[in-house]
Amino acid sequence: MTKQRWSAPGRVNLIGEHLDYQGGPVLPIAIDRRTTVEAAAREDGRVHVRSERSEQPVEFDVETRPGEVTGWAAYVAGTVWAMRAAGHDVPGLDLAVSSDVPLGAGLSSSAALECAVAVAVRDLAGLDVDDVTLALLAQHAENDYVGMPCGAMDQLASMCGRAGHALLIDTAAAYPAVSPVAADWTADGLVLMVIDTKAEHELTDGGYAERRAESGEAARQLDLDQLAGATATDLDRLEGVTRRRATHVVSETARVHACVEAMAARDWSRVGELFTASHGSLRDDYEVSCPELDVAVDTAIAAGALGARMTGAGFGGSAIALLPADAVDAVDAAVHQAFEREGLTAPECFPTSPADGAHADP
Ligand code: GLA
Repeated sequence: MTKQRWSAPGRVNLIGEHLDYQGGPVLPIAIDRRTTVEAAAREDGRVHVRSERSEQPVEFDVETRPGEVTGWAAYVAGTVWAMRAAGHDVPGLDLAVSSDVPLGAGLSSSAALECAVAVAVRDLAGLDVDDVTLALLAQHAENDYVGMPCGAMDQLASMCGRAGHALLIDTAAAYPAVSPVAADWTADGLVLMVIDTKAEHELTDGGYAERRAESGEAARQLDLDQLAGATATDLDRLEGVTRRRATHVVSETARVHACVEAMAARDWSRVGELFTASHGSLRDDYEVSCPELDVAVDTAIAAGALGARMTGAGFGGSAIALLPADAVDAVDAAVHQAFEREGLTAPECFPTSPADGAHADP
């Protein structure tokens, strides 16, 4: 059977960090780095998948169960499993995966793989499933097959991304509302730079789940279903760790709305200020930053960025900085020098821009 190709992007979250599992707003973009799957249906109910990033191909049955496939192929097996669990008839598949989304950089290479497989299966099996529902199935795969208790932001960004736009996603409802927001800083001479700190970023190892539990405890103490529903005055009823976590959630929620307003007004200095304030909150109140991310953010700002922040789950991974195009070289050089001075592994800086979500490729 002839093979066809589908691809899905990684993502960068502009602002609204650690809000997608507590009913808050988030503002990601899909980025111009993609994972591609070449796929064809098979008649024997087996899934055969190989990746240019791994020497060993992996094979499993479409009736795979959580725990059976581990490692990188679990994102593929989990997506097949979640689609079948939702009642869809998934055929056997031949899949070949390639990608330029960096691994372990906090840019959602896993969501890109899940979403590329999900759109391939949707088309090959002729399924009538909308993009948001498909993204939620990919999240289900990651939560209950891979075992990472993430929210739906990464999969929604990868599935629904739109070139030239960020996505304002309201995660309060079980079926999240996704609204494109024009994100055209380029027209005003600015660049969004990713600084991949190369610091270890391993999500299933506890820090993320611990934050989720602490925020859940804060919501419980306030008698709320979701912590994003808390107000500034509610914070007085909390103490210690739960108070710090809730302080981030309340202040970050306000920053997302302020950022959408500032973007509409093309007030990029304000957007930069909000990025930097978000980073401070993630560092001091939510406590998910790390020395590499702090060095990247502080150095980028000192070298001319309008603002900078960690993006994604934290504990390593990448930062983003919004900066004038003519400051790119200076910021890149300053960040490299600072990492060298601190004895840190050399980072990688590259510009990125908002791209389209998952789709069939020509
Ligand atoms: C990871 C998760 C997302 C989100 C971010 C933090 O990327 O996969 O669901 O929670 O962290 O904003």
